[in-house]
Amino acid sequence: MNRPTPITFQPTDIETIATATGRVAVIVTPDGKLDQGARRANRLTKGALVRLIESAAFAKAKPGKVISLAWPTGMAAEALDVLVLERRASVVEARKGGAALAKLKGDKALLVMTGNMTRAADLALGLVLRDYRFDAHKTKADEVSGDITIHHSRADEMGQALGPLLAVADGVMMTRDLINEPANVLTTTEFADRLAEMKSLGLKVEVLDEAQLEKLGMRTLLSVGQGSDSPSKVVVMQWNGGAKGDAPLALVGKGVVFDTGGISLKPASGMEDMTMDMGGAGVVAGTMRALALRGAKANVVGLVGLVENMPSGNATRPGDVIRTMKGDTVEVINTDAEGRLVLCDVMWYAQERFKPAGMIDLATLTGAIIVGLGHENAGVFSNDDGLCNAFLKAAGAEGEAAWRMPLGQAYDDMLKSRIADMKNTGGRPAGSITAAQFLQRFVQDGVPWIHLDIAGVASVKAETDYAPKGATGWGVMALNRLVADMLEAG
Ligand code: BES
Ligand code: MN
Ligand code: ZN
Repeated sequence: MNRPTPITFQPTDIETIATATGRVAVIVTPDGKLDQGARRANRLTKGALVRLIESAAFAKAKPGKVISLAWPTGMAAEALDVLVLERRASVVEARKGGAALAKLKGDKALLVMTGNMTRAADLALGLVLRDYRFDAHKTKADEVSGDITIHHSRADEMGQALGPLLAVADGVMMTRDLINEPANVLTTTEFADRLAEMKSLGLKVEVLDEAQLEKLGMRTLLSVGQGSDSPSKVVVMQWNGGAKGDAPLALVGKGVVFDTGGISLKPASGMEDMTMDMGGAGVVAGTMRALALRGAKANVVGLVGLVENMPSGNATRPGDVIRTMKGDTVEVINTDAEGRLVLCDVMWYAQERFKPAGMIDLATLTGAIIVGLGHENAGVFSNDDGLCNAFLKAAGAEGEAAWRMPLGQAYDDMLKSRIADMKNTGGRPAGSITAAQFLQRFVQDGVPWIHLDIAGVASVKAETDYAPKGATGWGVMALNRLVADMLEAG
């Protein structure tokens, strides 16, 4: 499994600028002010930085941008990376600055001079988040990524601030690994095994098998997996870092390890992307990992429904009627609208068993959310303004974009079935909202709830600020912050 690149803070020692191999980075403010490290680099390079600052290229450089000088004279490094950044950069600006440096880093060692910058720990987080690659299946990927050293005048303090941030980065990497992993490797069983390994972090982990799910009455979840040779599973992860008896926050994730669409088979083109259809479960897993690694003082329970949606002689047919754990019946109009069938049972079980103070479900649920919001924002649906606003604030502070969408009776009416209590699809209009309405039918009275449709943001074809192409880990940082803000503050 991918771990964050080794990274250390050290007291500022400007002598090392001359001798460091690999890449060296210094920071210059947008108005051209050099700190101690940059001044030293300027001296070594006989004024190259001052000439840079006076150039037209620098005048055009926006904060967050990096200008690279190759094979700088007077230095052993093969590049001097000049990051343009305010000394009082915000958390998100500092992270993006770090990520911009990581983009250039490749396999090289990197030395970053941050002087006395306040947000240096966040710059470091941006570095490790962007210095990720998924090369588990590249047979020639033997180069290891070079370590990152950060010089700072208050290295101890920064090192301490970095600890909990690295726990979160570790969670993000777990999420990305799970999402990037192909479906022949990450089967339902392999997924459950990887979650069970987190017992060593102090998490309580239970794996429920098909016989247990049958007994609990999770018929709709089982109906999705019944065409696959991989057994369906529900994994329950508990982190009890808070006060005993405090009702937990419940996180529920859609874990469809591969979504062919079932009998309502998807077209061939692009079907390979459906290896990421367990993204919601991946984010739940990574968040639980982050909470455990940083020893969060909160009670959080994570539940994931792991299934594979395959066509076969045993698969669910369009038109079949299935009974949910709640007791309501569903007419399956389209076997490709399978995520909601998985989530409704896991959500019901989470509420029955844990009586949570709040519930957040995450799912790569609809293509329609991509039509609406593209790959820029996750769709947010909620029955509770307080919880929803707290989440949006946390997501904004972490630079994970999210946008609230409406719910309403008229949308719910679109799920009426002639022969059962509801249909599993509401037709083409408002596809993401009717999916959310379906889920809301399984939210118990008085439970504050958020549904996050992450189909557009879980895995992307172009690199983002924090991640290379592929899985982003979107949501781990936002959820971690929400737990800190809501359950740990005060
Ligand atoms: N897993 C898909 C949604 C999806 C689409 C995720 C694209 C990521 C990228 C989901 O199970 C699905 O197939 N949804 C259908 C619902 C429809 C049949 C009502 C969709 O969006 O087309
Ligand atoms: Mn589907
Ligand atoms: Zn799906």
